[in-house]
Amino acid sequence: MDQQQAKHAVAQAALKYVVPGEVLGVGTGSTVNCFIDALAAAHVDIPAAVSSSEASRVRLVAAGILVRDLNEAGTLSVYVDGADEATPARQLVKGGGGALTREKIVAAASRKFVCIVDESKLVKVLGAFPLPVEVIPMARSYVARQLVALGGQPRLRDGFTTDNGNQILDVAGLSITDPSALETRIGMLAGVVTVGLFSRRPADVLLVAGSAGIREIR
Ligand code: A5P
Repeated sequence: MDQQQAKHAVAQAALKYVVPGEVLGVGTGSTVNCFIDALAAAHVDIPAAVSSSEASRVRLVAAGILVRDLNEAGTLSVYVDGADEATPARQLVKGGGGALTREKIVAAASRKFVCIVDESKLVKVLGAFPLPVEVIPMARSYVARQLVALGGQPRLRDGFTTDNGNQILDVAGLSITDPSALETRIGMLAGVVTVGLFSRRPADVLLVAGSAGIREIR
C-alpha cells in the first residue's frame, strides 16, 4: 500500500465513527480531504459539519455538506482530523497545514477526537517534524528568542498567513520527551496563539494505516 492508498484506507475506516444525525467536526489536510470525499461518497446522514479551516470548509461545501459555525453547533460528538506526527500514546504534532489553532479549538469542543494517519506519521518521540507555533505578528521575534532558549531552531513560515491573520514559526531541533510540559511552557509565552502539540488533549482514537491494514490505538 503506498501513502496515498493508506490515506484513502484510513479515511474510509474513520467513517464508522461518524454519528448519523449529529454535527461532525472535520479537520484539515490531505488525509482529511480523502475523508471528506469518503463522507460524501457514502452519503452519511449528518445535518452539518464544523470545519477547522477555510480550505476544508470550501471542500465540504463543494461536496454538498452544510458547514456550521462552532458557536452555533455547541459540543460535537466526534472530530476527525489528521496529524503530522503521532505517538502510540496518541499525542500529536499538528499544524503542518497551518490550521492548528482552529484544530485545537474544534478538538477541545468535541467529546471524541479520531485522528487518522498513515504509518509514516507514527513516531516514538515527537519533534522530528518541525513544531508549528502560531504567533501574533508583533511577537514573532520575541517568541523566536524564547524558543531558541528552549533548544529549538525556529523558522518563520515564509509568505504564510493563518486563517486568523497570524504567522507560523516552525521549530526544528526539539526532541519532545515531555509533550504536555512543553505544550504548557510554549503556550504560556506572550504572543503565542497556539502550539501544535496536542498532548494535554490527545486523540481519543488513533487510526493508523499501513501495510498490515488499519491499526486502532485507543
Ligand atoms: C493541518 O494544520 C495539520 O494539522 C494537518 O492535520 C496535518 O498537517 C496532516 O496533514 P496531511 O494529512 O496532509 O499529512
